[in-house]
Amino acid sequence: MDQENEIMSSYTIVFDHLNHLGPGDSATTRNLAERLRSDLPSASRVADFGCGVGASALVLARYLTEPRVLALDSHAPFIARAETAASARGLGGRISAVVGDMADPPPLDGVIGGFDLIWSESAIYSIGRANAFANWRPLLKPDGWLVFSDIVWQSEPAARSDKACEFWSKEYPDITTAADVVDELTGAGFTPLDPVLSGSKAWSNYYEPLRDRLRLLTKRGDCSQALINVIAEFEQEIDVYDCAGHDVALYFFLARRDSMSD
Ligand SMILES: C[S@@+](CC[C@H](N)C(=O)[O-])C[C@H]1O[C@@H](n2cnc3c(N)ncnc32)[C@H](O)[C@@H]1O
Repeated sequence: MDQENEIMSSYTIVFDHLNHLGPGDSATTRNLAERLRSDLPSASRVADFGCGVGASALVLARYLTEPRVLALDSHAPFIARAETAASARGLGGRISAVVGDMADPPPLDGVIGGFDLIWSESAIYSIGRANAFANWRPLLKPDGWLVFSDIVWQSEPAARSDKACEFWSKEYPDITTAADVVDELTGAGFTPLDPVLSGSKAWSNYYEPLRDRLRLLTKRGDCSQALINVIAEFEQEIDVYDCAGHDVALYFFLARRDSMSD
């Protein structure tokens, strides 16, 4: 196995049985989906970019009105789990789970784009917001919605701990404040609503099972070097959260494609 594949298979092992692969909370996903429902047509075309194993795609498929959801992720084992979960919940007809690149998404039912709603939880960082806005805006119908969650600075620059600054500037150089993300959206041709702060449940949903999983794998003691490295990365991330979690926050950003900017 080459190095890249070894790292990816280590992520598959770490995330085995975990439902949230980043901070997230199905109740918030559901609330926001219900808030948008009356603004969306029935049988709406929806994309969930960087869907992981399907946590948010399953909620969107259930709580929107008979949508067609393109659940897209670049990692095939995650998509296999999303597909199984959709079938197990009787949502297979609403969700098309596909391996692909969210910077250049494949068609849904033979059509590229034409989405009423693009959703993305804890994944936009991987292609960068500016890139995502530029690539995703043309994929939305006029007045279509973009909803994504992102980690942002919560504390003022002078109050941030060295630990948080060191970690986040390395792991997420694009991290900024919620107000800056709103400005970026406006500049990219969207009309944003006020951002929505996620509660601590979003973090515990992710870190608690992850912490248990890392402990179990470490105890098992048969880890490859790639897996040991991946475990160490996650342990560092959790340690930064434990010590300096107050410096950052997870926000949802909701924005409408602004047709006036076309
Ligand atoms: C932090 S996880 C979040 C997953 C899921 N949204 C959740 O909240 O559980 C980020 C996801 O983005 C996916 N990803 C990263 N780059 C991608 C790309 N260019 N295209 C599609 N998926 C990508 C990863 O495979 C991973 O599943």
